[in-house]
Amino acid sequence: MRILFIGDIFGRPGRNIVKDRLPGIVRDHQINLIIANGENSAAGFGITPALAEELFELNIDVITTGNHVWDKREIVDYFQLVEGNGHGPARRVLRPANYPADMPGSGVYEGIKGQIPYAVINLQGRVFMASNDDPFRTADQLLQKIKAKVILVDIHAEATSEKISMGWYLDGRVTAVVGTHTHVPTADERVLPNGTAYVTDVGMTGPYDSVIGVEKEQILHRFLTGLPSRFEAAKGDPRLCAVLVECDPNTGKANSIQRIMLGE
Ligand SMILES: [Fe+2]
Ligand SMILES: [Fe+2]
Repeated sequence: MRILFIGDIFGRPGRNIVKDRLPGIVRDHQINLIIANGENSAAGFGITPALAEELFELNIDVITTGNHVWDKREIVDYFQLVEGNGHGPARRVLRPANYPADMPGSGVYEGIKGQIPYAVINLQGRVFMASNDDPFRTADQLLQKIKAKVILVDIHAEATSEKISMGWYLDGRVTAVVGTHTHVPTADERVLPNGTAYVTDVGMTGPYDSVIGVEKEQILHRFLTGLPSRFEAAKGDPRLCAVLVECDPNTGKANSIQRIMLGE
């Protein structure tokens, strides 16, 4: 089974490059399952129901998010559309699982693709980020209930140490642990000894002529003056960053992980 995980899709440049390049990747690599982090789809800040459904129309199966999930208020109503444990589009957009229990949305999704059961878990780190429940113990609790062998974890976190720790913690228990949030792809992809594919950060899918997606002049102004200012999504040098994980659908063990970065 071949799983593609696309890193944080940032604004229109990110959405457009996914639209342009995804069909070719799926064809060339015979992808079976597509997961994307969409927390920055809406001009860099959050995701709307319309944008989520635009991504689903591009054959993305599950959308994960992170700290930007609530930036667009509409997503709360969208999550509340979900009834029971359905498989509709609103159910296939996740927010981190280790948020307070009574928040809208869900941090885990179990589905079937090409007759293969799979699960996606979305977690958020706690180092240099808002305090949330323990992502490690949240993962333990979720894994007790998941029946699928193929399990992909998006650890949305700032600190490389916390992400690598999650990789080791879940090694042999999930198919892949992939990091998101820093928007900078890391070159440490590998399959850990017990069969979990790992990368510290998949990297942003969006405009690289920027500071992690935002117009660089605006960020520089903030660093140089400390004055509050508006941040807008940049446009130039769009790239698609993803990892391709190949695994055994019967055991859920990863055989390989490959980094992908494509320009226009
Ligand atoms: Fe992000
Ligand atoms: Fe983030």
